[in-house]
Amino acid sequence: MTERKRKVSLFDETSVSGADKMNGRLGGLVNPWNGRMYSQRYMDILEKRKTLPVWQQKYEFLQVLKNNQTLILVGETGSGKTTQIPQFVVEAVELENHPGKSRKNKMMVACTQPRRVAAMSVSRRVAEEMDVTIGEEVGYSIRFEDCTSAKTVLKYLTDGMLLREAMTDPLLENYKVIILDEAHERTLETDVLFGLLKQVLKNRPDLKLVVMSATLEAEKFQAYFSGAPLIKVPGRLHPVEIFYTKDPERDYLEAAIRTVVQIHECEGPGDILVFLTGEEEIEDACRKITREIGNLQGEQVGPVKVVPLYSTLPPVMQQKIFDAAPPPLTEGGPPGRKIVVSSNIAETSLTIDGIVYVIDPGFAKQKVYNPRERVESLLVSPISRASALQRSGRAGRTQPGKCFRLYTEGSFNNDLQPQTYPEILRSNLANTVLTLKKLGINDLVHFDVMDPPAPETLMRALEELNYLGALDDEGNLTKLGEIMAEFPLDPQMSKMLVVSPSFNCSNEILSIAAMLSAPNCFVRPREAQKDADEAKARFSHIDGDHLTLLNVYHAYKQNNEDPSWCSDNFLNARALKSADNVRKQLMRIMTRFNLKLCSTKFNSRDYYINIRKAMLSGYFMQVAHLERTGHYLTVKDNQEVHLHPSNCLDYKPEWVFYNEYMLTSSNFIRTVTDVREWLVDIAPHYYDLENFPECEAKRVLERLYRAREG
Ligand code: CDP
Ligand code: MG
Repeated sequence: MTERKRKVSLFDETSVSGADKMNGRLGGLVNPWNGRMYSQRYMDILEKRKTLPVWQQKYEFLQVLKNNQTLILVGETGSGKTTQIPQFVVEAVELENHPGKSRKNKMMVACTQPRRVAAMSVSRRVAEEMDVTIGEEVGYSIRFEDCTSAKTVLKYLTDGMLLREAMTDPLLENYKVIILDEAHERTLETDVLFGLLKQVLKNRPDLKLVVMSATLEAEKFQAYFSGAPLIKVPGRLHPVEIFYTKDPERDYLEAAIRTVVQIHECEGPGDILVFLTGEEEIEDACRKITREIGNLQGEQVGPVKVVPLYSTLPPVMQQKIFDAAPPPLTEGGPPGRKIVVSSNIAETSLTIDGIVYVIDPGFAKQKVYNPRERVESLLVSPISRASALQRSGRAGRTQPGKCFRLYTEGSFNNDLQPQTYPEILRSNLANTVLTLKKLGINDLVHFDVMDPPAPETLMRALEELNYLGALDDEGNLTKLGEIMAEFPLDPQMSKMLVVSPSFNCSNEILSIAAMLSAPNCFVRPREAQKDADEAKARFSHIDGDHLTLLNVYHAYKQNNEDPSWCSDNFLNARALKSADNVRKQLMRIMTRFNLKLCSTKFNSRDYYINIRKAMLSGYFMQVAHLERTGHYLTVKDNQEVHLHPSNCLDYKPEWVFYNEYMLTSSNFIRTVTDVREWLVDIAPHYYDLENFPECEAKRVLERLYRAREG
């Protein structure tokens, strides 16, 4: 180990009066970061920042941080935790570094975010607040996008990215202070970081950890971090009046839209925030709201601006949630309103000022995992009471507000769980286990997590990784596993990439992996569904959706990535551009590990066969068999599934592998490819008849094996 004699000093010499001086310096006219005069905008924002609740406790915070290695800070959403606290910390760290320390050895402040959107949006805001350019002193890092530089002192990054950084920098020596933000969200990655940081802190006395959270679990965090001190930032919430529906709503989307229109017609000024569950639903609702309010013309209503917010929305569009509401059409006329239709992101990660009305249908898309059926899926499910409280709180930020819950009071009290289960209890842990093994944590059972997952889930994860060849029978990381862990992808996808050179098709597998990792590239506007489907059919490949994606990617490149070609073909140019970027990054990892970039000749009979075999090498555990009944059953788990209507096959193959299992009213498998009977060649250890439940697929496999022997 490298010498550990670094000063144990952060803040030791940084007295509170030192911080004061620093503050004085920052309060001057020259920006110490770039030597330029502060802009007027900086001054204006500074005045507003100073009114945020956390500023009241700035010195208390710095004092407690100085005297402790770990501290916990809780405060209402919007009190300034995410934007201000990291700046306080940077000031203190800078003061210690100052002056004359070489930039090179300087360590950064990290602030983690569970959501990519929040990391991007908040870092932009903070760059603005510090009057610097985003990507320079303040930057962000999210999967497949690194917007930082050698100058960066404050880095917002997703919790998943910090976990990945720990793979190459096990003691996180790039950082002096790590802030785990939105800890109450209890994402899988944040929970793993908790456990990891607990160990790192022991080995790095000079490192400090700040855990920030919006809600009540503070005591639980405190207990976990052995009684670390707690700072509570008093909330500044105005009263919020809660309304319930008398009877349960049959269609929450329709009810939500109706409520928006009613508020707009009948209630006083103030913006509206509607919580829905996903991109499609949100876009649909935005269209309907705009239309219905448009229909009210002639009546006395003000203008509206309807803005969507969800994770895959491009950053420029995300910024629109911060735009002001439109002014009234005539002086003294009915007020204009901003209507934000958002996924769960707006529950705590992003604060939008000016919201007075909240509409809460009571649902969110949540990850669920059943280790017995090995199915992990995103499912629209009821939120918890804690979530409902957070949501209603969004209405009382700037003035008294109203929250319309589209469910009954009885349902709130009796049906909703008190808290959302932490994600670690409802996820497939294969990827996490691979990451932990790569981090050198072998004793998973004793790895200290706040809520230990079910042993069955851990067993499943180990078993899956063993089947993939990433772990040996003793549970140790194999050579293959070492490389797989380097890819920021699911183990199945990493496996398919790592083995693709041996099938002579790594170029194509890279393209497919990139297309699967980027947002959906097919556009299907409501008013032009038929045209869109025809356009998609022109790319479709007889063997399935993965090869269709490959066709799209190739056509995109052949047409010089031309955005107007994309829109002519009902393709989302941004999604394709992002796929291209993902591909470049994955290719870099391939090259780093000397994985050959190669292709089978396009006119060879084996061109597509090799690609399909390589894919199956990763996805052999996600296969369904067509039964004589005409239904598909998943292999080994015998779950009845249907091909998702978006598939491009014009027949039903006997065996398909799938990329995604969607739990809805009926179970769909999405993005599927015909894989024939290669299963017994490619994954004989998995398709081993001795470990196979009795079923039709087993009998077919028996015949296959016999035919092979005979
Ligand atoms: O993290 P926490 O919920 O405690 O608050 P925050 O995200 O730091 O937000 C503090 C203030 O900054 C709020 O009043 C936000 O509206 C404002 N803010 C903003 O105006 N623009 C952004 N992009 C982000 C925050
Ligand atoms: Mg926050």
